[in-house]
Amino acid sequence: MTGLLTPLVYLLASVLFIVGLRFLSSPKGARRGNTVAAIGMALAVGWTVVLVAGRSTPAGIIICVLGVLLGGIAGTVGARRVRMTAMPQMVALFNGVGGGAAALVAVAELLQLGGQRPALQSGLPSVFAIIVGGISFAGSAIAFAKLQELMTGRPITYPAQQVVNGLLALAILALAVTLLALSGQPAIFIALLALALVLGMAFVLPIGGADMPVVISLLNACTGLAVAASGFVLDNFALIVAGTLVGASGTILTMLMGEAMGRSLANVLFGAFGSVKAAGDAAGPAGERSVRTGNSEDIGTLLAYSRNVVVVPGYGLAVAQAQHAVRELGEQLEARGVDVQYAIHPVAGRMPGHMNVLLAEANVPYEQLKEMDEINDQFKSTDAVLVVGANDVVNPAAKSSPGSPIYGMPILNVDQAKTVVFLKRSMRPGFAGIDNELLYDPKTVMLFGDAKDSLTKLLAAVKAA
Ligand code: TAP
Repeated sequence: MTGLLTPLVYLLASVLFIVGLRFLSSPKGARRGNTVAAIGMALAVGWTVVLVAGRSTPAGIIICVLGVLLGGIAGTVGARRVRMTAMPQMVALFNGVGGGAAALVAVAELLQLGGQRPALQSGLPSVFAIIVGGISFAGSAIAFAKLQELMTGRPITYPAQQVVNGLLALAILALAVTLLALSGQPAIFIALLALALVLGMAFVLPIGGADMPVVISLLNACTGLAVAASGFVLDNFALIVAGTLVGASGTILTMLMGEAMGRSLANVLFGAFGSVKAAGDAAGPAGERSVRTGNSEDIGTLLAYSRNVVVVPGYGLAVAQAQHAVRELGEQLEARGVDVQYAIHPVAGRMPGHMNVLLAEANVPYEQLKEMDEINDQFKSTDAVLVVGANDVVNPAAKSSPGSPIYGMPILNVDQAKTVVFLKRSMRPGFAGIDNELLYDPKTVMLFGDAKDSLTKLLAAVKAA
């Protein structure tokens, strides 16, 4: 009976994963997508427990149920408690344990052979799961530690780092070949796992904290592939489908992030990790140049009497936790008849969908959120743009300065609007560490201060106008 039902239940779970992913492609359907995929996962896990109960010892059943309970409770409590700004490290943690689990499953399967060389058919996915899962687990642990500030978030480098990593990779390859061709002794696959863990750490250590979202997305894709491999090891259809979906979507996300940052995947992987300049070291002649500063009363009046205002949120909005304040200001302007829209750049902030999530949390209507391609032509006819804690994503150097590190990155055409108001604390640059000409443009007005304070003052000024 279970033999017949198993493929059907796993097929249904897989369909739910795919439908869930489909809903996740728009902010409107994201919640529903999460629910649908979670139902699929509950189905797959629940059925697996039923299968284990049918053929395992009482101790095995208890371990299985305990695992589900512990994982379920840790996941639920963690996800409910996490602050929005701590989301990247949460994803790293969840992702890492997935990779670690895939590696352990493969180790357990190899242990059952009692030292015999595995058949290529099952040995190959096991070796793959150990290597990729191990790298993903250790790499994600370092990413978590960096983002959680348990260790320095700066790149950690040492001489001949790439050579050491290369030698580690060669040693891993040699052990994998030995395991598949000569001997299945536990010492070999345990050493393989240990080296994969070391390589995972060594791979992520030289990466700067702010590049971590790209790395996490890449490790996420690796975890997916490791899980798919462990699906082959266990002959489990649901694991193969779920792992492949994670692998594919993680790879696409990594590439999209690279594209939106104006960097090729090869450059992201081998070139630029850790080489991002520290904020403030490329401000160039900023000190000698003058900028136009405004006060909240004048800017409030300007906004209140505009026909249309486009808000551009960025990383600073997240730092200041100003999402509710910006929504209140938007509502106040709308109440006065001003057309208000929010322009969302794909890599604004520090993680994919960062701005969508923040604005959704503050209940900004979805219809007012406009993707870059959708709104870029409208800036020409926009009276005022309110840039809230964003910098790189509106920097015209991406279009006009071939030598700039962000040259080629698609940006929001804010420079085409009639007036641009920047809310930031200083003239310091953003993530890319480069000066922004738009700050010195005669049409730009700076309102210095924490974004939340500035927005609160602007709200009062708009009310008074
Ligand atoms: P950034 O260019 O990093 O600029 C953020 C600005 O916010 C800074 O100039 C900073 O200026 C200001 N700020 C910080 N705290 C603030 C506060 N409390 N109140 C007001 N302003 C504050 O941000 P962006 O325009 O969103 O661009 C994102 C960057 O991150 C891009 O370069 C992108 O490639 C990179 N990145 C993105 C991702 C993803 S997936 N989103 C992943 C990795 C890297 P002050 O210090 O003067 O206040």
